[in-house]
Amino acid sequence: MDVTRPKLFDFHGVSMTHFFTDNWDKVQNFKAKPDDIVVATYPKAGTTWMCYLLDLLYFHRTCPEREKSVPIYDRVPFLELVCSPYPTGTDKADSLPTSPRIIKTHLPVQFLPKSFWEQNCRIVYVARNAKDNVVSYFHFDRMEKIQPEPGDWDSFLERFKDGKMVFGSWYDHVCGWWEKKQTSSKIHYMFYEDLVEDTGRELENLCSFLGLSPLEEEKKEIVRCVQFDVMKANPMTNQMDDLTLDFSVSQFLRKGKVGDWKNHFTVAQNEQFDEDYKRKMKNTSLQFREEM
Ligand code: A3P
Repeated sequence: MDVTRPKLFDFHGVSMTHFFTDNWDKVQNFKAKPDDIVVATYPKAGTTWMCYLLDLLYFHRTCPEREKSVPIYDRVPFLELVCSPYPTGTDKADSLPTSPRIIKTHLPVQFLPKSFWEQNCRIVYVARNAKDNVVSYFHFDRMEKIQPEPGDWDSFLERFKDGKMVFGSWYDHVCGWWEKKQTSSKIHYMFYEDLVEDTGRELENLCSFLGLSPLEEEKKEIVRCVQFDVMKANPMTNQMDDLTLDFSVSQFLRKGKVGDWKNHFTVAQNEQFDEDYKRKMKNTSLQFREEM
């Protein structure tokens, strides 16, 4: 698919591209249903992983045929995405046949459509440590033709620190949702690193939050299906048919590791990053693990 890579612009204080703002009124006026489940993340924090896990949790037993025939990006619409000739995220969400609907967004907390709050919807937020997140984002932008040109690694890292990325600053995103979680029992805040460490444990916690009690064998099967290698081999989750992605440049399910940043950061980049990180994160209780 031939697309022109977009330019970043400032949108109410957050860097965005037109692919995520062209449908803004419809996004902001989106009508949520009380049982909607929102998956909110900063890009490359494990969104697809969580979308698939939730989809299995709700529909693996009742609609197994969907799992084999409908790609995950159609089962879980990306709310703010507008990418012609495909239907918009809001249209896809409006026409979802499932109950509940699982809806993905990368919006920072202040941009989430108010209907989700009014309807008291459950929100699952997944955060990933900044260093692995920026590495994953770099490789993704190299292959994703609807993202701005990434440039070289050094300049990409500087842009990340400055918050000049699509969906804005990682620091503001993870902290904004974390602060909101302190006063909202409807947000379940999860970490990519915890999912890597023990997917079964995280699935248990998620079930408690959602009020679900699947059978032991169902949980085992879900944990098996969401393993990195299994998702990578599954045409419904590996995104190989997404025409905006150039698989000759990188992979969507690329490494799936904690600590891959060590293969990218120089010693000097790491020192500067840590110093800047301390300043930006000094007022939050939010803590990440960069290695395990
Ligand atoms: P890497 O690029 O570090 O491999 P998103 O879905 O938000 O775009 O996130 C993509 C990142 O999550 C990629 O990270 C991808 O490999 C990783 N990921 C996806 N499924 C995973 C899984 N089952 N286990 C571990 N990591 C996974």
